[in-house]
Amino acid sequence: MELRMEHLTKKYGEKIALRDFSYTFTPGIYGILGANGAGKSTLMNLITDNVKRNEGQILWNGTDILKLGKGFRALLGYMPQQQGMYNDFSARAFLRYMAEVKEIPKKQAREQIEELLDVVNLKADAHKKVGGFSGGMRQRVLLAQALLGDPQILILDEPTAGLDPKERLRLRQYISDLAQNRIVFLTTHIVSDIESIARDVLLMKNGQLVKHGTPESLIAECNGKDLEDVYMTYLGGS
Ligand SMILES: Nc1ncnc2c1ncn2[C@@H]1O[C@H](COP(=O)(O)OP(=O)(O)OP(=O)(O)O)[C@@H](O)[C@H]1O
Ligand SMILES: [Mg+2]
Repeated sequence: MELRMEHLTKKYGEKIALRDFSYTFTPGIYGILGANGAGKSTLMNLITDNVKRNEGQILWNGTDILKLGKGFRALLGYMPQQQGMYNDFSARAFLRYMAEVKEIPKKQAREQIEELLDVVNLKADAHKKVGGFSGGMRQRVLLAQALLGDPQILILDEPTAGLDPKERLRLRQYISDLAQNRIVFLTTHIVSDIESIARDVLLMKNGQLVKHGTPESLIAECNGKDLEDVYMTYLGGS
C-alpha cells in the first residue's frame, strides 16, 4: 500500500499554493504541520481530486489516481476543513445519507453508523438535528462520516479544531488506533495533536515541504525537547 507524490504543484493564478511536493506514504499517521496558508489543505484537496494539479503526479500503488478515478475515491475517507451539513438532518440521518452517497450496502451501513456514533461519543445525541449541535459535536459527526466505509486512506484536515481537551484526547487515541494498515493524513497547527501518534511529521511553509522525519529525529536534530521546539525552529519565522 503506497501513495506516492511526485513534483506536485498547485497554483491559484500567480499564487503557488503547493510547490514541487514529493513524498511517499505507506501505512501510518502523517502529521502535516504548517501555519495558515502553508498549503496543507491544498495538498489534501489534491489527493481527493477536489482541485486540479498544475504539475506532478499522485500514484496509488504505481498508477496515477486520475486514471483510477472512482476506484481510488472509494478508498478515501475525507474530513474537510470546512463542510456544510444538512442542518435539518439528525446526526444518524446525516450519516445514513453519506453512507448512501458512498454506496455502502444498507445493512453494513447501519452497523457501521452505530459503531461510529459510539466512537465519536454521540450516541445519546444521534437523533437530534445537527443544526442545533455545538461546533465540537459537528466536528465529531464529520469525523464519523469520514470513517464510513473503512477507508484505506484517511484525510483529516484539522480534525481537532473546536474540540474541547477531553474530546481532543479521545480523538487522538482513536486516530492512533485506526492507523493500523491505513494511511492517515492529519493536518493541524497544534503540535500536541500529533506528537505522540505521528509516524512522520511534515513541516510546510509557503507551499513547500521544508522538513520531515519522525518526531524523535526532528526533535533530536534541533536539540529540542518536543515538537513545539521543532515547529519554532523550522516554521517559527512564518
Ligand atoms: N480556492 C483558492 N483560491 C485562491 N487561492 C487559494 C485557494 N485555496 C487556497 N488558496 C491559497 O493557497 C495558499 C495555501 O492555502 P491552504 O488552504 O492550502 O493553506 P493551509 O495550510 O491549509 O492553511 P490553514 O492553516 O489556514 O488551513 C494560501 O495562500 C491560500 O490563500
Ligand atoms: Mg487548511
